[in-house]
Amino acid sequence: MPDPARVALLLDVDTGIDDSLAILYACASPEVELVAVTCVAGNVEARQVAENTRALLELVGRDDVEVALGREVPLARPLRTTPETHGPKGIGYAVLPPPRRPLSPRHASDLLVGEARRRPGELTLVTLGPLTNLAVAVMREPELPVLLRHWVLMGGSYRSPGNTAPTTEWNVASDPEAASVCLAAFSTPEVVVARSAAGQPPLPLALGLDVTERAKLTPDHLAALARRAGVSLEGAGGDSTAGREAPRAVVRFVADALRFYMEFHGRYDGFYGAFVHDPLAVAAALDPALVRTEPVSVQVELGGVLTTGETVTDWRRSWGLPPTLEVAIEADVATFFDRLVERIGGLAASLPDG
Ligand code: BDR
Ligand code: CA
Repeated sequence: MPDPARVALLLDVDTGIDDSLAILYACASPEVELVAVTCVAGNVEARQVAENTRALLELVGRDDVEVALGREVPLARPLRTTPETHGPKGIGYAVLPPPRRPLSPRHASDLLVGEARRRPGELTLVTLGPLTNLAVAVMREPELPVLLRHWVLMGGSYRSPGNTAPTTEWNVASDPEAASVCLAAFSTPEVVVARSAAGQPPLPLALGLDVTERAKLTPDHLAALARRAGVSLEGAGGDSTAGREAPRAVVRFVADALRFYMEFHGRYDGFYGAFVHDPLAVAAALDPALVRTEPVSVQVELGGVLTTGETVTDWRRSWGLPPTLEVAIEADVATFFDRLVERIGGLAASLPDG
């Protein structure tokens, strides 16, 4: 009988600066059993995602975690990466030694299906990138939405403007066909009834830009995280040498990755700081009380002229259709940041200095 206080977690990532923080948050959370991490093309190419992910896990002593490579291109569109947002290798100015451990022999989608079949009703999947791996997995195993305990996604923009095109969010816009396949598969009446009967959350939980853009990490948060790790980050608010000088490897990584991300937000979003979308999604998967949600019917625009990839949301119930997602409309970001600082800072402090 699984311990109800433990969360057996599968992460699907496109690491990615904020994906890195999400992985660290998961590793630093005592209630988490990190089952595996699957990699998808997104912020950077999938092979680079897998390299970043393994190197980061090794940095925090988690080379026991299986890391699998997944789809290298979206289902039906060319891959567009985001070097301007996450840096040429996806981790900003940070540099990690090449990973020592090999990749899993399993394809990411096979891993998702295999683990869900092995532990039916136990696993929480959190997706932090384009939904290509999950779409392939549900096409291979249509029972997957019932086999998982929960699916939490960072993706979409339900009442807010987009961050990619005026109305689209990046993870969904990168592979809208995949997002559409996943939303449809997880919201059929049969799935919703079966999940409710099993005592599982009936609908996936979606954290879109509506809430993730409220999670604005500032240099003060970074300084607090470093302090928690026992490190002083002199001049974290703009000093370009801040991270490299820090004595603890995790603090060095976080500061060097975030400095790039903060400079990006300084250029495009008008503040020196960073939206940390992905760790908020992991935090909400671990503690749903961090978000207030509303069930609503959402469909992904696939044939728009200006709007392809938009998460079209029927807030007024004019379609008369049942809800497809539990959409986060508010988040307790103060508590989230307290936890992020405490957990990742605490993780950094607990590791041998490097
Ligand atoms: C999402 O896009 C990526 O750049 C981030 O990692 C996050 O998952 C935000 O739109
Ligand atoms: Ca991501």
